[in-house]
Amino acid sequence: MEKVEVLMTQMVESLDDSYILELFQKVPKGKRLRAKLILKIAGLSDDSYKLAAIIELIHAASLLHDDVIDDALTRRGKDSINALFGNKTSIMLGDILYSKGFAALSIFSSNIAQKISNAVALLSVGELLDVKLSHSFNDNEELYMNMIYKKTASLIEAASASAAMLVDKDVKIYELYGKNLGLAFQVIDDILDITQDSKKLGKPSLHDFKEGKTTLPYMYLFSRVDDEDKKKLLSLFKKDLSQDDKIWIKNKMQESSSLDDSILYAKKLGSDALEAIKNEENDSLSKIITEMIERDF
Ligand code: FPP
Ligand code: MG
Repeated sequence: MEKVEVLMTQMVESLDDSYILELFQKVPKGKRLRAKLILKIAGLSDDSYKLAAIIELIHAASLLHDDVIDDALTRRGKDSINALFGNKTSIMLGDILYSKGFAALSIFSSNIAQKISNAVALLSVGELLDVKLSHSFNDNEELYMNMIYKKTASLIEAASASAAMLVDKDVKIYELYGKNLGLAFQVIDDILDITQDSKKLGKPSLHDFKEGKTTLPYMYLFSRVDDEDKKKLLSLFKKDLSQDDKIWIKNKMQESSSLDDSILYAKKLGSDALEAIKNEENDSLSKIITEMIERDF
């Protein structure tokens, strides 16, 4: 993974601008899931490292924009770039990383370049849907799944498919694996927002609901409680939640098995991903699924 980090830094260094490099170095580093995926599927080569660095630059760019859109002051327990330098800087740094990634993509074959650029368009469509759905309480599971597919799963799907293209593996198999991994990843992310404390999350807990995001456990809960509780849940939507409100939500979710069933749903997506690659004899790809489902932050 070290090589991927070096390549990402080199792409930024090629701008020959010490301020931009300094900003880039303050971007909180993530789990590099997409890069890992590429290296596990395509093996270790100059091209696979380069592709991994490109996808991670694009992903970092999307989070720089996302933290502005979500008013998020922390990312992975660290100050976000928008918290440190303001929204304008975060947006422009995102644009820089995204353009450098795209420029580097042009050396790859057109099927790889197309797969990734289509996914980036979907990312933005998904983020826009997320913003739109946040205007009111959404109890439509299909809309939520469509939104998380575009916002999160599409780039993971494209990373997986493009890695397969690089080494002439069956693209359909890896595409399906990546899609289900990506969906499961976002469902787990949404569950952790409710179950983990803010210290572990590196951001305030139950922040999604305050931001207007009615994620899967909230949808399950809403459909399973009586009218009085429905009314109470709606009254808390987008509000600053007190400690008592948070406890009420969590207890109701436990009682109604809304959290457990959301976890089961993520596990089902994970097993669909495993099913897709069952004949590929790649244990590390199976491990990525189990680790992702069992992660606690
Ligand atoms: C995180 O969702 C957001 C994404 C995975 C995608 C964001 C995409 C854009 C802003 C489109 C712009 C794209 C580019 C390349 C500039 P979240 O808010 O649910 O997750 P979080 O808890 O990690 O913030
Ligand atoms: Mg966000």
